[in-house]
Amino acid sequence: MSIDLPSTSTCTPLAAWAAAARPSALQAMLSVSARPEILSFALGLPAPELFPIADLARAATAVLSDPMALQYSPPIARLKDHVCALMAARSVSCTPAQVFLTAGAQQGMSLLTRLLLEPHSRVIVETLTYTGFRQVLEPFAPEIVEVPTSADEGIDTDALARVLAHGPRPALIYAMSHGHNPLGISMPAEKRARLVELAAHYGVPVIEDDAYGFLQYGDAAAAPLRALDGRWVCYVGSFSKILAPGLRQGWLVVPESWMAALSIAKESSDINTRTFNQLVLTTYLETGLLPGHVDMLRREYRSRRDAMLHALRLHLPEGARWRTPTAGLFVWIELESRVCTDELLRLALEREHVAFLPGRAFSASGAEGAHCMRLNFSRLPVHDIEEGIRRLGRAVNDAPRRARD
Ligand SMILES: Cc1ncc(COP(=O)(O)O)c(C=O)c1O
Repeated sequence: MSIDLPSTSTCTPLAAWAAAARPSALQAMLSVSARPEILSFALGLPAPELFPIADLARAATAVLSDPMALQYSPPIARLKDHVCALMAARSVSCTPAQVFLTAGAQQGMSLLTRLLLEPHSRVIVETLTYTGFRQVLEPFAPEIVEVPTSADEGIDTDALARVLAHGPRPALIYAMSHGHNPLGISMPAEKRARLVELAAHYGVPVIEDDAYGFLQYGDAAAAPLRALDGRWVCYVGSFSKILAPGLRQGWLVVPESWMAALSIAKESSDINTRTFNQLVLTTYLETGLLPGHVDMLRREYRSRRDAMLHALRLHLPEGARWRTPTAGLFVWIELESRVCTDELLRLALEREHVAFLPGRAFSASGAEGAHCMRLNFSRLPVHDIEEGIRRLGRAVNDAPRRARD
């Protein structure tokens, strides 16, 4: 005998943000970039051949002599001491009690937003910004306020001042002071000072995402926002770009009084950052090899950056513009406005087997960057960079141009 149950709603049971979620441009590019025939400038991947494999293998073997390396564990105190030393090298003074260890910068930002946001909170982001931060915001359905950003100097602090002077107080400002993703630039010192001054004046926390701050290519490394203000700036750091993203290790520098709430938020997310990875990282840091490794990365990435800039000058048509990235892993390119880089990507992939990320992927509203693209210069060796830019140049030259208005 069959029982007729009253039909329930045909609506999806997912929360609104989850039901609306679509695969990100980055996810799509991960699978495209894995195709062997593709030369990919799409993702912010470090060069795998530069990972310190032998040193990490030695650390891993040493760590495994104790089975507790595979146990749940509290945060490793020695690792916090190393983080404080790293921060001191960037002119930030902090104590281990202000350091919270995370599974990468991404988790750090996710935990901070859980602490700072209520549903529908107001959040300030730049018009062009890191897509991963927008993803952590989505479950809160926030009111996103976009502040213009310049491809020369980053966030427009005058526009920020106007936003802060009117309307309700935002819950947070998201900023990248060095090696902006996607723009590849760093904020000048006076803009960093102004941003911090505004945050303190209006009492708005700044999440400073410094994932690329240790990869600066000038002679002297500039300090992060956190060096200017220990109250309103929440610092987010990462070992992903200076050691290996697969370790999934990052950290926060935040007020000590936030630790209890952060610990609860983290416990609900992954209980603890992998014990084994924390111990391998700590053992590696105790060898004292990291500063030399980071110097080597800076030299190598600077020469890859320069090779890319040289190839761009040779192969991109007149009208294309870019700046020399001062930090991080990306060059931001503006093509003539009649080229749509979403369409260009299709042509570049299908005909030239070269990948990049179109500018609109970084636009909070989807309205910016339609004629722009982001190129990564760390992942491929110089000869592949040269060949990839030659291919890209052909694609740009042949890309359809929209009629002028
Ligand atoms: C600006 C920015 N922040 C954070 C992250 C995430 O870093 P992690 O691997 O430490 O989670 C990335 C990764 O590419 C990034 O580009």
